[in-house]
Amino acid sequence: MRDVAVIGTGMTKFGELWGRSIKDIFVEAAERAIEDAGVDHVDSLYVGSMSPGLFVGQEHLGAVMADYLGVNPIPATRVESACASGGAAFRQAFLEVASGASDIVLAGGVEKMTDGADVIDVLATAADQEYEVYHGITFPGLYALIAKAHMHQYGTTREQLAAVAVKNHRNGAKNPNAQFRSEVTLEQVMGSTMVADPLRLLDCSPVSDGAAAVVVASLDVAKKLNKSFARVIASAQASDTIALHSRQSLTTLNAVVNAAQKAYKMANIKPADINLVEVHDCFTIAEIVVSEDLGFFEKGKGGEAAAQGLTSIDCGRIPFNTSGGLKAKGHPVGATGIAQIIEVYEQLTAKAGSRQVKNARRGMAQNMGGSGASCVIHILEAQ
Ligand code: COA
Repeated sequence: MRDVAVIGTGMTKFGELWGRSIKDIFVEAAERAIEDAGVDHVDSLYVGSMSPGLFVGQEHLGAVMADYLGVNPIPATRVESACASGGAAFRQAFLEVASGASDIVLAGGVEKMTDGADVIDVLATAADQEYEVYHGITFPGLYALIAKAHMHQYGTTREQLAAVAVKNHRNGAKNPNAQFRSEVTLEQVMGSTMVADPLRLLDCSPVSDGAAAVVVASLDVAKKLNKSFARVIASAQASDTIALHSRQSLTTLNAVVNAAQKAYKMANIKPADINLVEVHDCFTIAEIVVSEDLGFFEKGKGGEAAAQGLTSIDCGRIPFNTSGGLKAKGHPVGATGIAQIIEVYEQLTAKAGSRQVKNARRGMAQNMGGSGASCVIHILEAQ
């Protein structure tokens, strides 16, 4: 396989973008990424999107975006893996360049969730319809079950869950593209409206619109362009049972464990060699479980680590979700995996402004679908 690099990025602000269409926001992110990369063409296009048909009535997104971006007749394909669609699209771009089939590929992600669709119902299509959704459960409900099990098994507390939201809102306040740029206190999180016990409003990622795009190229092309880039040193993906009841444990996400093992092996590194992580904190409990399953903290200790500040930007241990994460930056589901790559790239190329992690050399992006039935992990390294 050839070496692959991220050479340019672009994204829209995340939030409620009522005045703009799904095409508008994708094209804005894609044009910014192409301009940032300084390339005059791309060889192919991948678009990560979970459910544009149900959210805005538009399918065939690869062709739609190639048309509006003005890049016909290059190959253009939509990639879907629920909330991991963006990460999966990036992986396809990586594989296409690594294989030698293309030199320069655009990987983007987009979702327009606030245009009037029944968001809870659309999101629930990523769970098991017959065994879970039919009985009325929603994604906040599924993650609430995981949270209750983690609290019961390991003594994780309500305060520890809240600490994740406080930290991610603090980081989001420093991110100009974040949906929520306000800090919150532990008391505000614990006193916010109950959504699915024990998860409250401020434990949840919001409903968002947004688009993000990156240009991926061979290392040779990246070097010739003579600009800052980050090398992709691992790309891994794994799957698990779709329904929670089929799992041996509610508190371990096997797709995360398996994808992480593959990623560490491919990069030939250990968790201690990583300097920052963007994880899929669709709910506060998800960040805690994932921080353990990626091997950064002992099983059952993720809540304690969050409460002790070990995952904050200036903690000196391992900063998690410097972008604000899904919690504060927003979660336009198909765009999330690409936005995670953008944050890692900005950190590794010293472009993260007041969110900058000192001496950031390697960063990980962990993106997952549904209640963890799919997981995509990438590790990037500074040049
Ligand atoms: N975090 C912080 N504030 C939020 C928020 C969130 N997640 N969601 C909404 N808000 C704010 C809104 O900005 C609004 O504030 P305002 O009154 O100052 O304008 C207020 O809370 C009410 O917003 P509303 O849109 O009416 O909220 P809602 O009750 O319809 O939805 C949730 C709240 C938590 C149910 C919804 O955001 C949700 O379902 N989130 C999870 C999404 C999800 O499952 N994603 C996939 C993960 S696998």
